[in-house]
Amino acid sequence: MTGLNIKTKHSNDRALSSLSVIIVYVSISGNTREVAQMLAEELERHVERVKLYNILGNEPFPDVQAYDAMLIGSYTWDNGQTPFDVKDFVADLGYKPENVFVFGTGDTQFGGDDTFCLAAEKLATFYHSPLPPLKVEQSPRGEQEQEVVNWMKGVLTWLS
Ligand SMILES: Cc1cc2nc3c(=O)[nH]c(=O)nc-3n(C[C@H](O)[C@H](O)[C@H](O)COP(=O)(O)O)c2cc1C
Repeated sequence: MTGLNIKTKHSNDRALSSLSVIIVYVSISGNTREVAQMLAEELERHVERVKLYNILGNEPFPDVQAYDAMLIGSYTWDNGQTPFDVKDFVADLGYKPENVFVFGTGDTQFGGDDTFCLAAEKLATFYHSPLPPLKVEQSPRGEQEQEVVNWMKGVLTWLS
């Protein structure tokens, strides 16, 4: 099973409650930020430390190596494109951490299913993410709220 070594590593070495997780995101109109904040709230109940890092904010570039897992969230634009700011972050990071989980927001009105949240799909492939990306249609309201919670449960199961 792909990634079994990663899961075993945490199971053997560290309890879930002692892990630290960084959530990196980019958001223009607030949808992806909303998902990032929901994920942070869920995570905070289970792990020791959660850091939210806004790519478009003013904080210095994070030390991703200091965290046990990275969640990265992006919107999609221009016919399935990944935003330049996300590409820059990925390039500046310069390596592929082990435990990367991807979430994204999008809108099927822009090209339908073929390009829906394609940036999240591409990031998940690039980082060999152990789980499929979470894809949210615009903002995480209504039924989608539960999808966010369920996806987070999957991440926690993977890390435990
Ligand atoms: C010009 C433009 C192009 C877009 N193209 C896509 C697309 O190809 N695929 C997709 O899923 N969403 C697309 N979207 C929708 C955004 O990804 C969506 O509104 C997203 O939730 C915005 O995230 P944010 O609120 O975090 O900035 C597009 C939006 C705009 C304005």
